[in-house]
Amino acid sequence: MKAIVQDVYGPVDVLELRDVDRPPAGDDEVLVEVRAAAVDAGVWILMSGRPYLVRLIGFGLRKPKVAGRGRDLAGVVAATGARVTRFKVGDEVYGTCETGSFAEFAVAPERQLAPKPANLSFEQAAAVPVSGVTALQGIRDLGGVRAGRRVMVIGAAGGVGSFAVQIAKALGGRVTGVCSGAKADMVRSLGADDVIDYTREEVDRDGPRYDVILDMAGDRPLSLLRRALTPRGTLVVGGGGYNKAPLLGGFQRALRTPLVSKFVSQNLRGLTAKEGFEPLEDLTRLIESGSVTPAVDRTYPLADAPAAIRHFAEGHPAGKVVVTV
Ligand SMILES: NC(=O)c1ccc[n+]([C@@H]2O[C@H](COP(=O)([O-])OP(=O)(O)OC[C@H]3O[C@@H](n4cnc5c(N)ncnc54)[C@H](OP(=O)(O)O)[C@@H]3O)[C@@H](O)[C@H]2O)c1
Repeated sequence: MKAIVQDVYGPVDVLELRDVDRPPAGDDEVLVEVRAAAVDAGVWILMSGRPYLVRLIGFGLRKPKVAGRGRDLAGVVAATGARVTRFKVGDEVYGTCETGSFAEFAVAPERQLAPKPANLSFEQAAAVPVSGVTALQGIRDLGGVRAGRRVMVIGAAGGVGSFAVQIAKALGGRVTGVCSGAKADMVRSLGADDVIDYTREEVDRDGPRYDVILDMAGDRPLSLLRRALTPRGTLVVGGGGYNKAPLLGGFQRALRTPLVSKFVSQNLRGLTAKEGFEPLEDLTRLIESGSVTPAVDRTYPLADAPAAIRHFAEGHPAGKVVVTV
């Protein structure tokens, strides 16, 4: 099969389209014929080996342990392991894999797959898993957004942010999206009630107004973010700066967050998304009811996956970057 693989860490030039063996599916795993995959920050991090922290936590000290890149996928079940009970050959699925989804076939644990939303194309469905699950857990599970809450999403035009705006609206929040001016119309079209153009104004423009802030972009100090938060508000720090600081890549803010939280009245939380079929099924319900629609920025054919990653890493896609197989 054809797949995008790499032998060493480095820039997008280390990626090659090669003929490789189909990955074998274990007893609890599913072989998926991939129709579409998507780019997320993790793809860039595992390609480049930066921040260096990822090398220390088991992804390969000198070179990546897994040569294939890509995590999000949507496709058709081609084979199932002996203990798989939820899927059969021919089912349309979406989720995340461990073997690289920029490939004609990929293997995913059964627990990381769900039936594809009936109203989405494969391209749209591939855009959902990593970013949609992160947004759902940031907005609903950690943020506790419910009707009437004032919510700010920083990085509202990005992969995670474009889902977060829609999920917060679906839960009844009053949403302000923070993005560059050129994306303001797009962020309003996702449902945002208001927009702050961060190139002109700061997030504390309106004072301590927000019950929940989900921060997915930039590296604003916690003190600045807290100035936009009500005295008992919740700040969820999920991302930003992944390709800036070489050692920790922005994770230091998420790590500091629970420590600072002990000394202030506001609730400050770091977000680490937990994958699985349960949040995917929750997203499917939101998608099939029409509350959430993936925003796809551009699609690239498999051979151009390096160009897709380069476009993502330049930092300004409007929604998700998708690779079709
Ligand atoms: N915690 C977790 O479990 C988890 C899971 C997934 C991703 N992440 C992290 O989340 C972050 C975002 O991921 P993503 O996939 O959404 O990335 P993305 O698609 O590149 O989105 C980032 C968005 O931020 C905007 N932006 C850039 N600088 C900004 C600033 N200073 N202020 C406000 N907005 C700014 C960019 O658009 P414009 O500048 O054009 O408006 C872009 O749309 C990454 O750091 C990633 O590592 C964390």
